[in-house]
Amino acid sequence: MSLQKLPPVNAYSACAAVGAATLAYLGLKTLSALRYHLHSSKLQRYRHGSEPWALVTGASDGIGLAFVNELAARGFNVILHGRNETKLQKILADLEPKYKVKFKLLVLDAGTPADAKFDETILSAVKGLNLTVLIHNVAGSGDAQVEMPMFDQMTGPQFDGWINCNCRFQTQLTRLLLPILIKNKPGLMIFVSSAVTEMTAPGVSVYTSTKFYVEGLAKALQLELKMNGHDVEVKSLTVGMVATASSGRHEKDISFTMPSPRDLARAALGKVGVGGVRITPYFGHWLQFGFMTSLPSWLSEMMIISLVRKAQDQMAKRN
Ligand SMILES: NC(=O)c1ccc[n+]([C@@H]2O[C@H](COP(=O)([O-])OP(=O)(O)OC[C@H]3O[C@@H](n4cnc5c(N)ncnc54)[C@H](OP(=O)(O)O)[C@@H]3O)[C@@H](O)[C@H]2O)c1
Repeated sequence: MSLQKLPPVNAYSACAAVGAATLAYLGLKTLSALRYHLHSSKLQRYRHGSEPWALVTGASDGIGLAFVNELAARGFNVILHGRNETKLQKILADLEPKYKVKFKLLVLDAGTPADAKFDETILSAVKGLNLTVLIHNVAGSGDAQVEMPMFDQMTGPQFDGWINCNCRFQTQLTRLLLPILIKNKPGLMIFVSSAVTEMTAPGVSVYTSTKFYVEGLAKALQLELKMNGHDVEVKSLTVGMVATASSGRHEKDISFTMPSPRDLARAALGKVGVGGVRITPYFGHWLQFGFMTSLPSWLSEMMIISLVRKAQDQMAKRN
């Protein structure tokens, strides 16, 4: 049939074809989301040998403490890392009667560069333990007590605070503990990243960059481990807002898009063995990011800038 003899494509059939393709695309997306969010966790794969241990960094509050509780409830002994020994001791006294597992403390400031004692402190905390899980949760600004500063408002020590606490510490800890996870195989290493790598915002430029760093590290490590035949699973969690006290949010703020720390930790452990390296474990965040990233960039940028302006106004009123 020559081209001239083909029936004309009218507007109606073109719209129907676009509609059918869109529905098929959304259907496939929904199916893969359901498969991903309903998949059962492989966490118990890492509870092997006599007395398996997990180490959680930044474990004295928020999401870190939630990971400690969720791991202990699933039969893991846990080393809690933090910088405030008195606070950690109080937490220990609260945890011990609740669970049938053991706990240990690792007191170390993640915001200062590694000194001569760094290796010794870490290695003696894990000495003789069957460490199979490492959760890189800690993040902070070191000594930089500033809220949403623009890049040009930050000082040298503030940059160092963020980078030390969110990148250097994770890297040095991985240098020391990855060989142990490899030896005690199978092992699991989770990095807690942030939604800022999905939706970059003003006022958190250095924090955002540090989260891209841990994501990059997680992806590269996973490939190197795979290439060398090591049985260590690496995950990087893309996490949206969570109702932690330090972020100024409380129980009353918990909603479908802002889970409690326990809900977030439960969702994260529920995704072990599922998906690739970079995952969004909490369903409400997954929907939220899906919506935001489907918007044209000019619109999402406009929305984010307006949200940051509102947050800055609120902070100015509070101070
Ligand atoms: N909350 C959110 O909305 C949210 C969203 C996305 C991603 N995240 C990520 O989730 C992780 C945990 O956040 P979070 O909200 O649970 O934080 P958090 O409530 O502030 O808890 C942070 C933990 O890290 C410890 N820590 C901070 N600086 C430290 C240092 N220099 N040395 C040793 N320990 C230190 C804190 O100890 P102290 O008790 O002594 O302060 C605390 O145990 C972070 O990686 C964060 O980037 C959080």
